[in-house]
Amino acid sequence: MTTEIESILVENRVFPPPADLVKQANVSGMEGYQALCDEAKRDPDAFWARLANENLVWTKPFTQVLDESRAPFYKWYPDGRMNVSANCLDKHLGTPAENRAAILFEADDGQVTKVTYKELHARVSQFANALKSLGYQAGERAIIYLPMSIEAVVAMQACARLGIIHSVVFGGFSSKSIHERTVDVGASLVITADAQMRGGKSIPLKDAVDEALAMGGCDAVRKVITYKRAGSDVQWHADRDLWWHDVIQGQSTDCPPVAVDADHPLFILYTSGSTGKPKGVQHSSAGFLLWSLMTMKWTFDAKPTDVFWCTADVGWVTGHSYVAYGPLAAGVTQVVFEGVPTYPDAGRFWKMIQEHKVTIFYTAPTAIRSLTKLSEADPKVHPKSFDLSTLRIIGSVGEPINPEAWVWYYNNVGGQRCPVIDTWWQTETGAHMITPLPGVTPLKPGSCTLPLPGIDAAIVDETGEEVERGKGGFLVIRRPWPSMIRTIWGDPERFKKTYFPEELKGYYLAGDGAQRDKDGYFWIMGRIDDVLNVSGHRLGTMEVESALVAHEMVAEAAVVGRPDDTTGEAVVAFVVLNGPLPQGDQAAAVAKQLRDWVAKEIGPIAKPREIRFGENLPKTRSGKIMRRLLRVVAKGEPITQDVSTLENPGILEQLAQVR
Ligand code: PRX
Repeated sequence: MTTEIESILVENRVFPPPADLVKQANVSGMEGYQALCDEAKRDPDAFWARLANENLVWTKPFTQVLDESRAPFYKWYPDGRMNVSANCLDKHLGTPAENRAAILFEADDGQVTKVTYKELHARVSQFANALKSLGYQAGERAIIYLPMSIEAVVAMQACARLGIIHSVVFGGFSSKSIHERTVDVGASLVITADAQMRGGKSIPLKDAVDEALAMGGCDAVRKVITYKRAGSDVQWHADRDLWWHDVIQGQSTDCPPVAVDADHPLFILYTSGSTGKPKGVQHSSAGFLLWSLMTMKWTFDAKPTDVFWCTADVGWVTGHSYVAYGPLAAGVTQVVFEGVPTYPDAGRFWKMIQEHKVTIFYTAPTAIRSLTKLSEADPKVHPKSFDLSTLRIIGSVGEPINPEAWVWYYNNVGGQRCPVIDTWWQTETGAHMITPLPGVTPLKPGSCTLPLPGIDAAIVDETGEEVERGKGGFLVIRRPWPSMIRTIWGDPERFKKTYFPEELKGYYLAGDGAQRDKDGYFWIMGRIDDVLNVSGHRLGTMEVESALVAHEMVAEAAVVGRPDDTTGEAVVAFVVLNGPLPQGDQAAAVAKQLRDWVAKEIGPIAKPREIRFGENLPKTRSGKIMRRLLRVVAKGEPITQDVSTLENPGILEQLAQVR
């Protein structure tokens, strides 16, 4: 483990919570928050039992809260049984929520479709019955490769209804990524669409699935179900392929939910780590849903009258907790958006907030930063040109939000009225961990503030000892919590080693560096491992390196991150080719070829922003690549560090040249 923690700008401004929110929020005032924290501290089991009993519908109630006997393979509510879909849909039937809009879907071209809770229940049940009639059962794995759509939510909920474990692959990922995940989870079902519509363009999806399945090793896949979105041409394999609209034909809208063990895997979601291979993060049913729901209520203060909009794609964890599950369990109306924030123009988000009367808006700093630039350049797309007065809470997720972006968001989108809720969490944590609460926490721009009740977050040194306030260290969670990762699918050893290293006293190691200020507020300082954060998306440097060296022209590659005003970090690759150093136009042509190659291997988000060529990479005498120096070169800064341990210091000058 290394701590390369850079100092950060600590903001001094404090924004108190709005008085009306303090008065009527689900968690009201600092006393309300403190009371919950005290309750959790006094008797954690009783606290987590109370929440699970009061907020989930159980088919068989649990008698034990937490089984620690095989730590860190914790089991929550081990003898309880329930169904996630029943907790998101069936529980609203026969209540005032049943005729409420569950989803307001806005397509890329602006067309809006409204689905009530009752209708969504029927659609999910019908699709689940279709899966059942094809012989699918609890425990099987399904790959979902769908655009943002009502169908994506239906597919995930239908799997949950039957206990089928889904693994959603982001629509921007390549056929190779689909292939890797299909093989790793041993999927027997793939659910996809002919294409997705983004920014007026149709991008094929089924083709990528076909390519992936042709790569071999996917023999377990019995059926591919395709939702017709764009009406584009697709290849058809009669023995394997089925249309979505055909399989639901004649299926009943009544499908009893299948009760599963509380810890039955709800989904596996792949995320980047510090090796070349993404990890399949396995989440549970009850624990995951409980915390997605509680954070809807606490962090977002969700009420039945709210119109909630989380802009994340269902391909990321945020789209699991805060699109497919949490909002439905909370019974709010949510907006689901197919398109991109800049089409037909950069006012799209604000126009949608205005039209759908959104009250809670949740997006990523990258989106805010890019829309700031575009809005400041064109008053027509500036948030001030829209009526955003329905908003009461605005959230941020995925990466540190710099104070400038925070203040712009607060002033221009939140009208200096809505608290900016900067939520720190991870794919592995399932839902929010450290976050302000709208009716509780005085805000400091750039800080995710305080841990949620029950979350025992701390900053520790290499031995697990808590560090003094103001000092940097490793962010850990000292006690298990219900929505935590259960294991890495198929690799329990890696799970243990990565998240519960022996030297850290059994604490969960988040992989972020952080510090706490004098008020106990947390300030996240970035990853301590070789993981980059590009536009709020996690990317392993090794993953990009493996993709590069898989190209026949490449002998060696090292990838680092460079700070970027819009995307947070940008990928910079240093490449040694098999052959002479390319010059001029030839270098540009090879760089383009390699960037396209990475897009094909992983997905466009992994494309290096810049590729630098050298005859070698800076290495120590023992052959270790000095990434620390490459990071300096990538920033275009002069090397002031001691380079005497380098075997080939001259190489730095060569790599500093942009060809
Ligand atoms: O480095 C932290 C950063 O994103 C990482 C988790 O990425 P992922 O698993 O893709 O989940 C993203 C959506 C939850 C963390 O280790 N991160 C996430 N939220 C914040 C953040 N960094 C600073 N502030 C945040 N609010």
